[in-house]
Amino acid sequence: MKRTLILSILLLCTTLAQAQIQITREDRERAEALVEQMTLEEKCALITGQDDGFHTAAIERLGIPSVRMADGPQGVRNKTHSTYYPCGISLAASFNRSIAHGVGTGIGWDASARGVRIMLCPGVNIYRSPLCGRNFEYYGEDPYLASETAVQYIRGIQEQRVIATIKHFALNNQEFDRHGTGSVADERTINEIYFPTFRKAVEQARVGAVMTSYNPVNGVHSPENQWLLNQLRGWGHDGIVMTDWTSSYTTLGCLTSSLDLEMPQGYVLNYEAVSELVKNGTVEESLVDEKCCRILQTFAAYGLLDLPMKNESIPENNPESRAKAYEAALEGPVLLKNDGILPIKASKKNNIVVLGPNADIIPYGGGSGRMDPIEGTTTTLWQGIASLGKGYKASFMDWKNIDEAAIRKASAVIVSVGFNHDTEKEGADRTYSLPAGQNELISKVASLNPNVLVVANSGGEFDVTPWIGNVKGLLMAWYAGQESGRALAAIISGAVSPSGRLPFTFWGTEDKNPAAKYYHAVVPAVKKRSKNRDPYPNAEYKEGIFLGYRGVERFGIEPMYPFGYGLTYSGFEYSGGSLEVLPYGYCVKFTVKNTGKTAASEVAQVYVSKDKSAVARPSRELKGYEKLSLAPGESKEVRILLTTGSFARYSIPQHNWVVDKGSYKVIVGSSSADTKIELPVEL
Ligand code: BGC
Repeated sequence: MKRTLILSILLLCTTLAQAQIQITREDRERAEALVEQMTLEEKCALITGQDDGFHTAAIERLGIPSVRMADGPQGVRNKTHSTYYPCGISLAASFNRSIAHGVGTGIGWDASARGVRIMLCPGVNIYRSPLCGRNFEYYGEDPYLASETAVQYIRGIQEQRVIATIKHFALNNQEFDRHGTGSVADERTINEIYFPTFRKAVEQARVGAVMTSYNPVNGVHSPENQWLLNQLRGWGHDGIVMTDWTSSYTTLGCLTSSLDLEMPQGYVLNYEAVSELVKNGTVEESLVDEKCCRILQTFAAYGLLDLPMKNESIPENNPESRAKAYEAALEGPVLLKNDGILPIKASKKNNIVVLGPNADIIPYGGGSGRMDPIEGTTTTLWQGIASLGKGYKASFMDWKNIDEAAIRKASAVIVSVGFNHDTEKEGADRTYSLPAGQNELISKVASLNPNVLVVANSGGEFDVTPWIGNVKGLLMAWYAGQESGRALAAIISGAVSPSGRLPFTFWGTEDKNPAAKYYHAVVPAVKKRSKNRDPYPNAEYKEGIFLGYRGVERFGIEPMYPFGYGLTYSGFEYSGGSLEVLPYGYCVKFTVKNTGKTAASEVAQVYVSKDKSAVARPSRELKGYEKLSLAPGESKEVRILLTTGSFARYSIPQHNWVVDKGSYKVIVGSSSADTKIELPVEL
């Protein structure tokens, strides 16, 4: 039995490794041979963005093509209309690796159909505060969930011969004054919370490119931060490191760090500036050669020096991409409250009113993550409900001009609220409260009708306290892309059970979040500083490793909805529970049964907890999960592998991960606050 398991794991690893593009010795030698023939001027062109700022340089005499890039992460942006997929937080909320892989694959198809060979995604910065304007692009608060999601998404993209770019390295966890505020954290916090997603992307997905952050990390701008970039190279990243757009400061700093590509153009790595330092002997030209080599070896590995940029066999408006967008949109929404309002089954008595600012639009978060869907391919929430057909009499109402009598008579009212590209976006932080007028709308509707479902678009938690006690349901819909209306209608009608889980802790009030007081502390300093950004205010990550659910016990605070939580239309029973010892870790085994009358999915989560630790540790940490789709009455045996690394913590004195001897518990549950099975382990 044990042997079969090990063999199947090995086989799986081999299959995955085969699918991944790796930079080989031949790619390196080819790159070196090309660089030898290049002039310094050509080399400087290659290490800086060109044209519209979304292309690399072509060096035609050497057969080096210009490579086109485009933003993600919700689809292919920049001068095109494309399939619009659910946002990052929605993919994380699916707790489903194959959904993340499917969206990556769809984006890879769409990019290659357009001749785009570098996608500027995924964004994986950890959710530290609900206010960060880009949380919607990212994968939530937990490094394990974020890295599992990122690895699959990257593999999906790169299997289509498109380079993925993981961003923003590192500690870019707020949008407030992102160019002018530094991030300061200790080595353990960085390694346990903020590095793992980047590290796994390098080690397990061989991500082709990494984008640095705007914020300095511990006092040094990230593209020039040798310590930071050396970590990345130490994990084995031999692909490209590029700057975020306009975040380079000095020629010397960018030359001497292992940065490769300055974007969107050569502000500091231009020929004039670089050649001066080479000529006066400050730096060796070999520093530039090394950057060119890493760019060209990556291009060689992805076939960009040989094969056509465009994959003509894939249509730009691809039904298969749309199918991936729909599958993902079904699995992201998280049902947080359901006092019997959902599902709304087909009935002659149905007379549903749909209203709210987001009810008949495709809401999206703003900034470079915003993109243009293909005309005629989108379905809004209202359109989704309206097309449910027989048994779903429904009407749309203008939220600014409500018909009180019609609301009173409705069998159910769906209020669609939340943020959008203006109120939640890159370059600014958002409010904790819903945008103006929305709390009042919900409260008003709830005073007229007891049967209210709130459907909310956001990248994280927001203040629900003004009305949560007066509504029957709350469904977190994130920004679910072009198919959001179809998917939400399927969930609301019960055709599909909701299966998303919170990828962050929903505290319920702004100040409960362990990071809140430190997150805001930088604001007065920013306001006081001089115009030339001197002094440079720092956001200090003083909550350390006790972010999100890791802070629940440490600080004795109870969240409104815990990390990993989400309701569905069925019930589940956990049974069994054993640990099989493997040469490199453990296999956790248990059984989950759907005890209800509806097909539904459960997300079984495995946490590790150290009993009595001399070094402070979170009371539990997610180290495994599996989403199980179960028919009524069906049971499945779940097997989740834990390696010895699953029990490790980072040691600052040793500058490394260590596994402490002693007693641990492996906890199986359906959220971070739930314990179904507890298994002791002695290491
Ligand atoms: C963003 C990046 C993005 C780049 C190019 C920057 O402002 O921070 O995430 O990839 O612009 O659009």
